[in-house]
Amino acid sequence: MTLTEGAPAKLNLALHVTGRRGDGYHLLDSLVCFAAVGDVVTLTPGPLSLTIDGPFAAGLEAGDDNLCLRAARLAGGQAAIRLTKALPVASGIGGGSADAAAVLRGLARMGHPLPDRTERLGADVPVCLASRPARMQGIGEVVTPLPPLPALHMVLVNPRVAVPTPAIFAGLAQRDNAPLPPIPTFADADALIGWLAGTRNDLQAPAIAAAPIIAQVLDALSAQGARLARMSGSGATCFGLFADAGAASRAAAALARNGWWAVPTELASAPAPR
Ligand code: C5P
Repeated sequence: MTLTEGAPAKLNLALHVTGRRGDGYHLLDSLVCFAAVGDVVTLTPGPLSLTIDGPFAAGLEAGDDNLCLRAARLAGGQAAIRLTKALPVASGIGGGSADAAAVLRGLARMGHPLPDRTERLGADVPVCLASRPARMQGIGEVVTPLPPLPALHMVLVNPRVAVPTPAIFAGLAQRDNAPLPPIPTFADADALIGWLAGTRNDLQAPAIAAAPIIAQVLDALSAQGARLARMSGSGATCFGLFADAGAASRAAAALARNGWWAVPTELASAPAPR
């Protein structure tokens, strides 16, 4: 019997860096949500193995240190894993953490309990296990689920530049920023966008310094009518929030003409099965 698990794209709608731990990892305060686009993982009981296909398969090795295999070993699970990579690699939208979380969810459905301290696999694994709107704190291990967010129409854009996460954290000018303001229950998209205007992604400035094309992506999203344009995670993927689905798909088509990966999407409709 083969199980299928979605690995939806993770978006940091807001991400404040609030400190640094003794081991060098950064303390974060982030409003995280998930998009309706993502990678797909299938698991078939049998000896542990990994095959990768899909549009972005070429960016990824299927070797022993692939996060899908590390996740399966941590859970003690045996399965033939197939990863269909639809999202750009090393791009700030979960990627390896989302895939690892999907493997762990699938193995849990096969009877292997979730391992402890999944942030050891990747700081985004705990929030990706939840795959629902959440506040993420600590280095990623403190996940507080939030009520559903209002419907959002968005475009994800990656200029086909891979950004190395450690270098972006190392480029931070300030590491002791204020936490997020209190997160209310948002009545509608306007309320959420208004709240987001008082927040930032603190990794955006160092990411632009390392990859200036990110600033072009953000400008292009705004020029296409995005009500808010911001980078996710350590980049380089950016998101724009649009008034409706038509505006999002027109903007995505225009941005794709630059040779960029640009997809219109919305919030993931339901939490992934647990
Ligand atoms: O956990 P993950 O593999 O996503 O982290 C990649 C790198 O990003 C870490 O080795 C660390 O340098 C940096 N990082 C950090 N603080 C976090 C998450 C990641 O400094 N909260």
